[in-house]
Amino acid sequence: MSGARPLLSNRASSEVSTDRDLAEEDALLTGNPTQRDGPRTWKFWREVGLFVWALIATVLVIVLAVVYQKSQDTKHGSPAPRGKRNLIFMVSDGMGPTSLSLTRSVMQFQNGAPWSEQLVIDQHLIGQSRTRSTSSLITDSAAGATAFSCASKSYNGAISVLPNHEPCGTVLEAAKKAGYMTGLVVTTRITDATPACFAAHVNVRQEEDRIAEQMIGNHPLGRVVDLMFGGGRCHFLPNSSATSCRADGTDVVEMAKNNGFNYISDRKAFDDLKGGAGVEFPMLGLFADTDIPYEIDRRSENDIYPSLHEMAETALKALQEATRDSKQGFFLMIEGSRIDHAGHHNDPAAQVHEVLAYDKAIASVLDFLKNDPTQGVMVSTSDHETGGLATARQLHTGYPDYLWYPSPLANASHSAERLDYEYKKYLSNNPSASDKTTFIKDTISTGLGIKDFSDEEVQKLIDDPDTALYQYAEMLSRRSQTGWSTHGHSGADVNIYASDPDAAWPLAGNHENTEVGDFLRDYLDVDVEAVTHELKQYSQSMRILNADNWMGPEPEEGERLDGQNHVASYGGDFKKRHFLHGRGCDCGQ
Ligand SMILES: *[C@@H]1O[C@H](CO)[C@@H](O)[C@H](O)[C@H]1NC(C)=O
Ligand SMILES: *[C@@H]1O[C@H](CO)[C@@H](O)[C@H](O)[C@H]1NC(C)=O
Ligand SMILES: [Zn+2]
Repeated sequence: MSGARPLLSNRASSEVSTDRDLAEEDALLTGNPTQRDGPRTWKFWREVGLFVWALIATVLVIVLAVVYQKSQDTKHGSPAPRGKRNLIFMVSDGMGPTSLSLTRSVMQFQNGAPWSEQLVIDQHLIGQSRTRSTSSLITDSAAGATAFSCASKSYNGAISVLPNHEPCGTVLEAAKKAGYMTGLVVTTRITDATPACFAAHVNVRQEEDRIAEQMIGNHPLGRVVDLMFGGGRCHFLPNSSATSCRADGTDVVEMAKNNGFNYISDRKAFDDLKGGAGVEFPMLGLFADTDIPYEIDRRSENDIYPSLHEMAETALKALQEATRDSKQGFFLMIEGSRIDHAGHHNDPAAQVHEVLAYDKAIASVLDFLKNDPTQGVMVSTSDHETGGLATARQLHTGYPDYLWYPSPLANASHSAERLDYEYKKYLSNNPSASDKTTFIKDTISTGLGIKDFSDEEVQKLIDDPDTALYQYAEMLSRRSQTGWSTHGHSGADVNIYASDPDAAWPLAGNHENTEVGDFLRDYLDVDVEAVTHELKQYSQSMRILNADNWMGPEPEEGERLDGQNHVASYGGDFKKRHFLHGRGCDCGQ
């Protein structure tokens, strides 16, 4: 055995044992002297080096472990920041990921911009939301918004009620109770599903008359919304009014005024709000009988209707002023409502302009947050995708070229909805017109910017005016090679965006839509359960009084409302043939 190699080197050594310990033990066991000269100095320094290295490594491991633990603690804690805060929740109704590709490509084409040019919203992507409801793999906007407002899944058609028809408290109601100011800004009817879900509770979304009354304070909690901008005036006017769509004679505008609301209904009064400085709360601004026109049409009627970003900026400024000296900030929901409608209509040009208008509103909100001294966050997502939109379409039986064209969409100056409206008006004003061709060719050429229309396309509009809306939209879709799989919604995951990915960290990655609802209540740090409890007690006392259900009638049996994981079973529907307009253009569902 040569002396350099320790005899007992194969035994288990403790952490502090070194070659030198082993050599010394060997010497004791064998009686041979250990070498204590030259090599020992080298060994000594090597040992010191090893010891220091071990020490540093140990300290490093401990430090890293502590840092990791800390970061894990934060991630499992509440996202609520300390102190006063504002939350702006934006909903792009019916906007799926392909809506962004479509809009971005048209934007680049129009601006002559490089392919690296993004929309504002593109720069803030943080995650994805899964959208199914309890009653279907394909949600509607009511169940979609209930997932945001109540953080609970419910059935299609539910306006902040659960599948058992109990009301669920909303984040807006809880925010109001906690002292926040609250607002809703939309481009559709303010009584439509998305805004309704924040400030009303009804069993079926069609109950818009009832929703209107709840939203202005005929509600178990009293008035919960401080500011509303949007359309839907017809549900607030008594049926004696020419533009009413109410079934009864209730004057909800009058009720609102009695509840203290400042009511405005036109562009001039909106301009008098001076970008927010002139807003007096509570504020109800209804700028259209039903929906505010699509942006593609509205931009040439800017003197009649305010835009989404103008309404958003005015609301932000007003809420900022109103909460300047208060302990709590505000909660504002802003909806790009009609991206969904353009999807229902399968109208790609209308959709591009709806998304661009939403992008502008996003820019306004980001700008506000950047300059607002109060901390805040903007979170944006969609309730679902609409239309099964594809930026590709096979037009012929032969294998297709890989092409999609933005130019036909850039040339359109009006929506299919507007052309359809004009065509219907023309027909009713000229019931015996023998030559409709000139009128139709003119609308196609000026409204859609299409010059290469065929005789068949013109003839079909003459023969089947009922489906004119879809026909106009289809002309643009075919030319741009835009595909649609449905006039309804789809089950696609949708994107989540945030102004600040750190503030919105719980929403990074892929989430259930109810987790968006969780984030809203957690960020504001409000007690939504207490509101649910109060609403249930109110329902209970109404039952004892034998009063009519304050949430309206429950949906018919057979609407597949049961089951957390219920998936409708396949029934051979593909064999059934329906007349294209059998169900009518039931838009905005
Ligand atoms: C208006 O509503 C009242 C109920 O409030 C009803 O009796 C009346 O028939 C309605 N009128 C019309 C024209 O629908
Ligand atoms: C769009 O309009 C321009 C100018 O009128 C025209 O030159 C072009 O051909 C049009 N594009 C399409 C796809 O119709
Ligand atoms: Zn819809």
